[in-house]
Amino acid sequence: MYKTLIYEKKENIGLLTINRPDKLNAISNELTSELKQLLGEIENDEELRVLVITGAGDKAFVAGADIKELVDRDAKIGRRVSRERQEVFSRIENLQIPVIGAINGYALGGGLELALACSIRVCSEKAQFGVPEVKLGIIPGDGGTQRLPRLVGLGRAMEMILTGDFIDAQEEYRIGLVNKIFPPGKLMEGAMELAQRIASRPPLAVRYAKEAVNRSQEGDAVSGFALESYLHALACTTEDKKEGVSAFLEKRKGEFKGK
Ligand code: COA
Repeated sequence: MYKTLIYEKKENIGLLTINRPDKLNAISNELTSELKQLLGEIENDEELRVLVITGAGDKAFVAGADIKELVDRDAKIGRRVSRERQEVFSRIENLQIPVIGAINGYALGGGLELALACSIRVCSEKAQFGVPEVKLGIIPGDGGTQRLPRLVGLGRAMEMILTGDFIDAQEEYRIGLVNKIFPPGKLMEGAMELAQRIASRPPLAVRYAKEAVNRSQEGDAVSGFALESYLHALACTTEDKKEGVSAFLEKRKGEFKGK
């Protein structure tokens, strides 16, 4: 039914697999639309207790936004896409049921931002996290500048966002980005076991507890998200964005001018 997603139910646990493995599960516009549609289904499913999200293939959870679609992203599109994906990820964050991110490989850019919208993250030893937007001449636009500092602290979030460097599973665990690390072949078993444990708890208590914990993170988030989105749009107008995106697609090193 979906082209870019696989959704299965294992009793009262939903398993969503982001499914564009040949593009490392990059988030395209089509994938965003399908995700919105699927979320409608999930929000209306009263039987569901926990949702687990993972990526297809053995290489990536999600390697970010589809960089091909960045070529034509100007300020107007940048603002719209950013707002749209912020909303989709906020719907995931605010689902009544807990969401477990089972990070099986690269979680980059929008992929890391999707992981951050999950209630709990577990990963395989192969997982790598990063926020490489700045290397493309843009900034995160799917909630990353707001959610990452809340989870790992301002300094670590700054370093990740300003360098664009990737970190490995041990470092992710050390800074609290993930709660558990599994050998690659054991990741889904580990994630499903955790999901089953939560699914076995009283559903209303789980639902209320999740909501209460989520609310603890609200500072002046509205203006933070708005600022992020405007600055994301502004970054889309720069020469360095054009250069960064072209360089990636042409498989060469970008030359940036700060313009
Ligand atoms: N958007 C679109 N396509 C992507 C992609 C993305 N974010 N990430 C990877 N792909 C595609 C590659 O272009 C390649 O496609 P091709 O086979 O048609 O050429 C395919 O997925 C495999 O990726 P490749 O780069 O060959 O794998 P690798 O093992 O050499 O490198 C990464 C893996 C993750 C380091 C590298 O793909 C990468 O840096 N991706 C972009 C990450 C990024 O900047 N994300 C943020 C975007 S805002």
